[in-house]
Amino acid sequence: MSELENYSFICKTSELKDSKGKRFIINNTDIAVFKVNGKIYVVSNICPHQHASNIYEGFVEDECVVCPLHGWTFRLETGNLTGGSRGLDTYPVKIIDDKIFAFVKEKKFNW
Ligand code: FES
Repeated sequence: MSELENYSFICKTSELKDSKGKRFIINNTDIAVFKVNGKIYVVSNICPHQHASNIYEGFVEDECVVCPLHGWTFRLETGNLTGGSRGLDTYPVKIIDDKIFAFVKEKKFNW
């Protein structure tokens, strides 16, 4: 079994600017990818507050991303709100050479 089974190629690490998000649609799922201090994070691009698709545009500070609409702040590592409650989905990442792969399960929203 390939170690990349169920993982999708996202982009190269060199295509990401430090602390700036980039948006991709993978398996019909809207994701935001961040590189912070050399570490790659893949999270849902959809803010759970008003379901806006703009997490990738959020300001990054202290390994958190701030939703540009109303400032909800999520930890990139866990996706949780800084207060601890559940926020964004996060996706497992593998880096091979400079290629980023993520295991992005299609998410069905029920709103
Ligand atoms: S839509 Fe993200 S904080 Fe309101």
